[in-house]
Amino acid sequence: MRSERINALLEQYQPGYGLPAGFYTNPDLLPADIGLLEPLWYVAGHSSEIPEPGDTKLVSLFGESVIVVRGSDRVVRAFYNVCSHRAARLCGESAKGLRQFTCPYHNWSYSLEGKVKSRRLEVIFDETFDPDAHNLRPCHLRVLEGLIFLSVSDTPTDFDAAYQPFSDIFRFYGIADAKVIRIEGFSANANWKTLVENTIDPYHVPVVHPNFTRTRTPAYWQAAASTRTEEVIAAATQAEQEMKEWEAALTQLPDVTGVIVQDGEHDDQFRWLVRGPLAPGYQSETIGGKRVAPLMGQFTESDEASVFSNLNPLDSLFISVDHASIFSIRPLAHDQIYWQTTWLVDKDAQEGQDYDTDEVCEFYAEVNAEDFPIWERTYQGATSRAYRPGRLAPQESFIGEFQRWYVRRLRQQVETPATLSV
Ligand SMILES: [Fe+2]
Repeated sequence: MRSERINALLEQYQPGYGLPAGFYTNPDLLPADIGLLEPLWYVAGHSSEIPEPGDTKLVSLFGESVIVVRGSDRVVRAFYNVCSHRAARLCGESAKGLRQFTCPYHNWSYSLEGKVKSRRLEVIFDETFDPDAHNLRPCHLRVLEGLIFLSVSDTPTDFDAAYQPFSDIFRFYGIADAKVIRIEGFSANANWKTLVENTIDPYHVPVVHPNFTRTRTPAYWQAAASTRTEEVIAAATQAEQEMKEWEAALTQLPDVTGVIVQDGEHDDQFRWLVRGPLAPGYQSETIGGKRVAPLMGQFTESDEASVFSNLNPLDSLFISVDHASIFSIRPLAHDQIYWQTTWLVDKDAQEGQDYDTDEVCEFYAEVNAEDFPIWERTYQGATSRAYRPGRLAPQESFIGEFQRWYVRRLRQQVETPATLSV
């Protein structure tokens, strides 16, 4: 989209209200949206998905296909899924125990470390052939406590600065020593911003998610959803008192409570991390509150808490003492997204004995099923000529933060048009 048209949209934006329709529904805005999202780091999976040398995971990110592979030296690397000879996709699916990558077009082959090694080259090319110029093109990859992050940008944001504040808490909760037990994904007809705004919105939870609502105290939700100011203030005071009581009784990781990371609109990566108490009697964020898998990490008993984190606008990680869930939004088009949930438990837990996969997954499978129609209905409404940006409730302050973050990043895109693919 031409920058004048984006500027015209930006001028319509009023802080404190929803975004103007075009931000959700205009297909021409997608390249600018991708441009502002691309420099960030995104979760591509967990190292337990590729435990052995030659195990690969194919990952789609912003239209790119990337091969994540554990090399012969056990180091995890990422390469664009493009043959350096004639561009064919090297891999069609994730695989186990590959010895090399072989292109199905002309049989060029590459080591797991991305070096071109095909014997067919020696026959065909003379001494002007430079093999190193034909290695696979690497993709930026980092691993944090077992979580594999990719960036398809040539100039990604500073990974260490972004994620250092997360590492201690992820280590204590045993994220590196977890294993993936299920990945479920589906697509929905909505703009990616529709989903971001939903996933950071506590105001809708008591309306849409009965079992999720029961995991927190009535005061917590009253503060998040009440319609009368005095009720909100009283509930917030009560919730704060409950938080203090939980903190006073906390013996494990006692100094890491409340808001650990939250710079809101001013955070280039739009990250946040909060650790807070569950409702009385809840050991874990599950239907009914009982633990559904063995304790993870360094825990010797439940901390009766939950960790909510956003790693960027599109990826979030929710952790309980016995399991964790990763949620990923992937924009496929201006009006289509892919939503993926990944569940993890401790790597030594035995299915059938220590946990039942369906039981671990039922809580967020239900939340997903409850949210799916909301995403599509919200997007459908935004396509109507009757749509006008509505006033955000005070409890929707995170949505306001996200929108101001998005508008700031979009303005930067418009000001540096070289990054805009028109
Ligand atoms: Fe929801």
